[in-house]
Amino acid sequence: MSRNPSILFRQLFDRVSCTYTYLLGCNKTRRAILIDPVKEHVNRDLSLLKRLELNLQYVANTHVHADHVTGSGAIKTLLKPAVVESIISSASEAKADIHVKDGDIIECGDSIKLHVLSTPGHTSGCVSYYCPEGAFVFTGDCLLVGGCGRTDFQQGNSAQLYTSVHQSLFTLPEDTSVFPAHDYNGNLMSTIGEEKRYNPRLSKSQEEFIQIMKDLKLDLPKLIDIAVPQNMICGF
Ligand SMILES: [Fe+2]
Repeated sequence: MSRNPSILFRQLFDRVSCTYTYLLGCNKTRRAILIDPVKEHVNRDLSLLKRLELNLQYVANTHVHADHVTGSGAIKTLLKPAVVESIISSASEAKADIHVKDGDIIECGDSIKLHVLSTPGHTSGCVSYYCPEGAFVFTGDCLLVGGCGRTDFQQGNSAQLYTSVHQSLFTLPEDTSVFPAHDYNGNLMSTIGEEKRYNPRLSKSQEEFIQIMKDLKLDLPKLIDIAVPQNMICGF
């Protein structure tokens, strides 16, 4: 999945919340970063790291999730006293070891450099992590394959999400691979070019997009009252 041989890439899935967790490893230094781990799959993720002889340096979240508890806290507890630092945006106001903002670069080993893009709208603290060397971007719940995250709770704002996608994500090279935080239809990934042209919501005008989001009328996630408070403190 990575077009850069010095970056090891794994996409992992949680069937219950349909969440993707991503593992990136530096093939040279064996340092690794996990993006959006799920609490129930911490043992799977740690076994994989062990099997691939990777040392976990960071656990990063794209935002404060409402549908599952992050694995960050459990991983930090299990790997103690090894140094694993949790990362989330400062705008999320959630607890973590490192707080990032737009323009920051997370470096892991020699080959992984993740550029932090502020992409609010699903929540006010959503960020995407862009890796130019691998030509991929982790879009969290901002941009999904043929969709986007909901905007009706957690400070969601449809106009803001539209602006994040059009002014930030859609300015990336068109062949950049898009890896979302969720997919409910069996898709693994997309590209910026495909989403620009074919995303049924975000290829529309901002006014049409806002109306589409208003008309969704979704039920609240089952775990929202448990997941949000726990994720505000890194899943502890
Ligand atoms: Fe979310």
